[in-house]
Amino acid sequence: MHLGIFDNSDQASSAAAHVVINLFAQKPNATLGVATGSTPSGLYRELRAAHAAGDFSLKKSQVFALDEYVGIAEDHPERYRNVLRRELVGKENVGLTEEGLHTPDASAEDPNVAALHYDREIGAVGGIDLQILGIGTDGHIGFNEPGGSLVSRTHAEPLASQTITDNARFFDGDVSKVPTTCITQGLGTIMEARQIVLLAFGANKANALAQLIEGPISAKWPATILQMHPDVVVIADKAAASTLEYTDLYVERWQLAFGD
Ligand code: PGA
Repeated sequence: MHLGIFDNSDQASSAAAHVVINLFAQKPNATLGVATGSTPSGLYRELRAAHAAGDFSLKKSQVFALDEYVGIAEDHPERYRNVLRRELVGKENVGLTEEGLHTPDASAEDPNVAALHYDREIGAVGGIDLQILGIGTDGHIGFNEPGGSLVSRTHAEPLASQTITDNARFFDGDVSKVPTTCITQGLGTIMEARQIVLLAFGANKANALAQLIEGPISAKWPATILQMHPDVVVIADKAAASTLEYTDLYVERWQLAFGD
């Protein structure tokens, strides 16, 4: 696991964009896994700028969301399919096609069947080349909440009360408006991505990040399973990295791997 610590989230987002742009320079039809939430918005802004400059496109790519709320109206602006449409689809964004955007079918009668179907869809395209992740304050990745299986496949999952509180800001600050269930890629599914870039910004992520980098692998902090992945780059701002114990070591390791 490599950890890059940047002065602020803009610099961190730009570093993450380089990883994505480099991959697509080598493999224009790479399959990308994408996160929603506040954290990756700077990365998507950088990718849109690169697209406008002619340096990047998702036109030939299949893109898979990590998760989707269950029971959210199709036209709700916070439905993740709609969020990702605004961020990525079309020429004004990064050239992703509507057909290239895959999200779990959260309006399906049986979300577990939809989850199974989604997992198979990922497998059918040969798996995900690069998965973008955020991290929840409770250590979730995707919506894999504490205490679940560390090898789960895509499945229906209840949102933890901490996540509902955290995400209320997207729903007029009203916890009662936040969906309580989702379909999420499982930890086992996420671990099959060939490369993973996890972004963590802000002091409220410091505890989860410390667990991810330095804690024991535990279902209590689901992100810690990433310690077992061979190719993870964690990109953090200073605030998120503020409580780590071995910062000097991480800086040296980063320099050895990637230069300054
Ligand atoms: P955030 O969410 O980017 O909105 O902080 C991260 C997550 O829940 O994974």
